[in-house]
Amino acid sequence: MPARLVIEGGVRLRGHVEASAAKNAALPAMAASLLTAQSIVLDNVPRLADVVTMTSLLERLGAKITREADGATRLSVPSVTTPEAPYELVSTMRASVVVLGPLLARTGTARVALPGGCAIGVRPIDQHLKGLAKLGADIAIQNGYVEARASRLKGARITTDLVTVTGTENLMMAAALAEGVTVLENAAREPEVADLARLLTAMGARIEGAGTERIEIEGVAELGGARHRVIPDRIEAGTLLVAGAITGGDVTLTGVTPRHLQATLAKLEECGVSITVEGDRVRCLGPARPRPADVITSPFPGFPTDMQAQMMALLGRAEGLSKITETIFENRFMHAAELCRMGALIETDGPFAVIRGVEAYQGAPVMATDLRASASLVLAGLAARGTTEVSRVYHLDRGYEGLERKLQSLGARIERVKT
Ligand code: EPU
Repeated sequence: MPARLVIEGGVRLRGHVEASAAKNAALPAMAASLLTAQSIVLDNVPRLADVVTMTSLLERLGAKITREADGATRLSVPSVTTPEAPYELVSTMRASVVVLGPLLARTGTARVALPGGCAIGVRPIDQHLKGLAKLGADIAIQNGYVEARASRLKGARITTDLVTVTGTENLMMAAALAEGVTVLENAAREPEVADLARLLTAMGARIEGAGTERIEIEGVAELGGARHRVIPDRIEAGTLLVAGAITGGDVTLTGVTPRHLQATLAKLEECGVSITVEGDRVRCLGPARPRPADVITSPFPGFPTDMQAQMMALLGRAEGLSKITETIFENRFMHAAELCRMGALIETDGPFAVIRGVEAYQGAPVMATDLRASASLVLAGLAARGTTEVSRVYHLDRGYEGLERKLQSLGARIERVKT
């Protein structure tokens, strides 16, 4: 049944809340189970719609996936029963493409539906395919599917034309079982890439440099089982910090890795939010009204595109003029028009958005268009005068574990209503 979130704005959020594990680290970690016949145990897989989709996909490919009594998720793929990732699953979740590298490396063939575009951009996977071809795969596009074949992949030097997160992950997983050494230049430095490398290393892979722009992988003949704890979700954490900031509240996040959050924390401080970091906790004290700031999204360690929409919601209330430049995705301002329906003054032109801060948002019915856009509407709703109803909440459920429950625990008046 479709659901809406109904938010009564105007409450200053207060209290402590624990971060969940990162969606974008959990999904590739689950896919890594395809690389071995032994079990992979992941301690803290978040409960998300995207995890359910990845579970269905891996089960289709031959995985047995169970929840252990202690809450951990056990994945084992004794053998790959079909190397095909069908369109109906890949089209609901683009991240499904991370099964391509492992399938090819394990079985010598992979048939994965081309993901196509999505609400935020065209999102081609040419760099994944070029890299796999460098590793010796024959790649063809047939009837909307990528068909890849290789007897055994061979290590190679690969320089991607641009920084791609899941591309780096796919190539790292494929190279882990290739013959010889692979060097990935211009690799993504995102913490999720380094987390996957940690899991692969625990499985027996030989990987150096993950988390830097040059990753060296010495292929091994086979990988084994491992147990792994997924890193905390830096984007969920950033979203909850903005919830504190935008309501002029006092919110402490626990169980986070502050160095993964540096660009977000620095920008929040620039906006006049007081941030205190202590071990794995970050406390944020929101100002009555934020100061304006200019934001340019860029690959890690730059300001994350996945925090751009949430930041726009905050800057919409700033005292002055802010500018956002979105450099990663060509169509990631869909939330701007919805924020304007709540009284924001935002103009966009290609990759640029100019935001003239208003004193307050007004509650309104709004529609979510993608995951992070939904989060920005919820944030604006928390700060708005009156009632906001966010529809198409399924976008939010793809990537936030119990967001409304977490916000309620901070005092927010937010309810899920079935329509
Ligand atoms: N690109 C290409 N060719 C490729 C690959 C990427 O042109 O072969 C382009 C993309 O179109 C985009 C840019 O390169 O313009 C960066 O894309 P990237 O490949 O890094 O994105 P992704 O791996 O598909 C991951 C996250 C996204 C996050 C981006 C950027 C996962 C599962 N997804 O996507 O997360 O926005 O990196 O940081 O890790 C989200 O969680 O809301 C989300 C969209």
